[in-house]
Amino acid sequence: MEKSAIIRTLILAASVVAISLLHYLTPLHLHYLHDIFQRLYYLPIILAAFWFGLRGGLLCSIIVSIVYAPHILFQWGGHPGMEMEKYLEILIYNTVGGVTGVLSQRERERTVELQKSTRGLKESYLKLQQQSEQIIVIEEQLRRAEKLSTLGEMAAVLAHEIRNPLSSIRGTAEILKDDYKPDNPKYEFIEIQIKETERLNRVVEDFLLMAHPKPVDMLSCSIQDELETIISLVANEAREKLITLLLQPQALPLIIQGDGEKLRQAFLNIIINALQATPPGGKVIISTNVSEAEFCEICFKDTGSGITAETLPRIFDPFFTTKQNGTGLGLAITRKIIERHKGILLIESDTANGTTVTIRLPMLKTTN
Ligand SMILES: Nc1ncnc2c1ncn2[C@@H]1O[C@H](COP(=O)(O)OP(=O)(O)OP(=O)(O)O)[C@@H](O)[C@H]1O
Ligand SMILES: [Mg+2]
Repeated sequence: MEKSAIIRTLILAASVVAISLLHYLTPLHLHYLHDIFQRLYYLPIILAAFWFGLRGGLLCSIIVSIVYAPHILFQWGGHPGMEMEKYLEILIYNTVGGVTGVLSQRERERTVELQKSTRGLKESYLKLQQQSEQIIVIEEQLRRAEKLSTLGEMAAVLAHEIRNPLSSIRGTAEILKDDYKPDNPKYEFIEIQIKETERLNRVVEDFLLMAHPKPVDMLSCSIQDELETIISLVANEAREKLITLLLQPQALPLIIQGDGEKLRQAFLNIIINALQATPPGGKVIISTNVSEAEFCEICFKDTGSGITAETLPRIFDPFFTTKQNGTGLGLAITRKIIERHKGILLIESDTANGTTVTIRLPMLKTTN
């Protein structure tokens, strides 16, 4: 039993005992005092009904009846009129105990129900609040996406418009270059002009490719062949930088349905990044594997400087670069190409062990 219930029971018992003692100890000729004591019994009965419901009210009225009855029988026995009235009072005690008990029990049940619905209301209010917060966040994202797409469209138009004057600048620079001998200082300036225009052109082309990717030409192509082509392109650069560039032999020829040109571009972007990050004496190892039956996996592992935890979430953002001459489009384009082949691109990196880029592509077939 709870502590408060014990205290209440004790209060009730003490008051019943006290009132009964008053009855038993007060001489009968002070009948007006007995009348008062008789009514005092209602206090514990009503309190018991309020505190403990129907059962409490009835139990208290029965105890009062049992305690009070001998007093009527033995002390009021000689006054037949009075005795009858006292017995009637006992009946009323029990009626009051029962009725007050029923009423208080009903009240209590209603309170419990009210508390339950209040709790339910509070929960739905909280849920509603969470949902409206979510709606606000989504709306904000939508607004940002809208702004970005408008900006993207504008940038694509701008990039497109830049391309034509760029080719004229480059063309005229080529013509001017013919007027100077290589030992002339102006010859070098024109060379810089041509080189920088080429770089700018590459940025614009990359950007346009991102904004409006050309449809991919899906043909069956061998991963090994595409990787070998790319390795032969960059082998010289790796050798000059004293980096070991290694394509591990493949157990099975991995054939996928894809656009060879786009895949080569993706592989090249990853290998160039690896070579740029790896110091002399480091390694760039490329390996292939079959994963989960229908997928092939191509891993590019380098022992380079790695990517810090703060930088890692941003490397796929267009124009994010940590390099002085980087455009920051390499990985964004690469991921787009892989996604268009229904593949995924994963990067694991830390500054202690270097970077591993994994490409997973659905395979067309595996033959021996
Ligand atoms: N293998 C790697 N090792 C260390 N950092 C890397 C590696 N690959 C990518 N990164 C980081 O990710 C950034 C984004 O790479 P991404 O290829 O998109 O652009 P970029 O190489 O800077 O420029 P570019 O457009 O010329 O490729 C890089 O600037 C570099 O900080
Ligand atoms: Mg790059």
